[in-house]
Amino acid sequence: MPGPGWYWIGEEERREVLDVMESGHLVRYGKLDDPGFKQKTRLFEQEFAEHCGAKHALATSSGATALVAAMNALELKPGDEVIVPGYGFIATYSAAVFLGVVPVLAEIGHDLNLDPDDIEHRITSKTKAILPIHMLGNPCNMPAILAIAEKHGLVVLEDACQATGATYQGRWVGTLGQMGVFSFNAFKVITTGDGGMIITDSEDLYERAFCFHDQGYHPFAGAKRPAERNTLGLKLCMTELTAAVGRAQLRKLDRLLDTLRRKKTKLKNAIGSIPGTRFRTLNDAEGECATLCTVLFDRADKAAQVAEILGTRTVDNSGWHVYDKMDHFNQYLKEHGRPFGRGILPQTDDILGRAINLSVGVVDAGLGAGFGICIDSTDEEIEQAAVQFRNACTQTANTV
Ligand SMILES: Cc1ncc(COP(=O)(O)O)c(C=O)c1O
Repeated sequence: MPGPGWYWIGEEERREVLDVMESGHLVRYGKLDDPGFKQKTRLFEQEFAEHCGAKHALATSSGATALVAAMNALELKPGDEVIVPGYGFIATYSAAVFLGVVPVLAEIGHDLNLDPDDIEHRITSKTKAILPIHMLGNPCNMPAILAIAEKHGLVVLEDACQATGATYQGRWVGTLGQMGVFSFNAFKVITTGDGGMIITDSEDLYERAFCFHDQGYHPFAGAKRPAERNTLGLKLCMTELTAAVGRAQLRKLDRLLDTLRRKKTKLKNAIGSIPGTRFRTLNDAEGECATLCTVLFDRADKAAQVAEILGTRTVDNSGWHVYDKMDHFNQYLKEHGRPFGRGILPQTDDILGRAINLSVGVVDAGLGAGFGICIDSTDEEIEQAAVQFRNACTQTANTV
């Protein structure tokens, strides 16, 4: 099964959805004084903005479409460059590509996030933005990234798709840069099946994102569409049914994160300290989502052997999120005369080759997290997973 929110889908979601179905009103627009219009999308946006402390939230059909709308709102133009980490997701890269913006790959550090030390030398006269991705629910080193952005006059768009509810020094990730985006796909902290959210404190950016997300129409809550449309857009709206599920999931978010954090602490304590291994760096140990527990080995061959014993994979071999494992992205880079393939980010290759993701809340072989626990695991199951992991490490220590 995928993300923690999925495990907890239940009566609350059913009631919210039925509320919409009984009204028969499935789109986000309607007459505000019509009791049959349940306004789920508007309310989900409002509640999300309140929850994360942003002035504006805009619901979208997915995290990918949220990224495109946000980049468009930031006026990233063909030929502009945006710096992205080599451990991320194809949607982040392809959102840029579809706007003609060039994603420039940079190294990750031991937090498995964009390494601030590898950003500056990649900045050119074409660089317009930095796009940190809070991978596996772990906040990036934002002060360092924001300082570089400020020094070079760059905007920061935070990809918080995997990190709904994560905080950095008490502030939600996604609220630290100019804009933040979230995903509610099946593997994420909370889920609506598919869906996304854009947040920003800027009225202008919100307005531009809104226009883009619905054929150039300016923000409006009710049924009457302002006639004036001065920009082109697409159709990236969330439906009332999706927002209904989102509202129920959002109400569970704090409890869900508490549970994940408690279970991850139990798992880490049960694993204890194993020679030749360490846990990934957490920039804010209390604020991370605790959806995954990443173990870094001192040697890639040991990591590979432990992964094999556990029936999982090292992160560099996990597929979906590693730059050199995305064939379509490699093809794009090749066609555009840019460096591609394993070896162009040696630090990232090294770190991911020594890393194993243990599932805590996100159970996803595509993340290399096919082994571990889930949000509903009992203490015994957590203990059992830790023992299995420790045994695999011991076995490896004796053979490698
Ligand atoms: C880091 C990251 N960015 C963007 C996305 C895209 O989100 P969605 O699947 O909702 O389009 C994902 C989804 O896996 C992701 O992990």
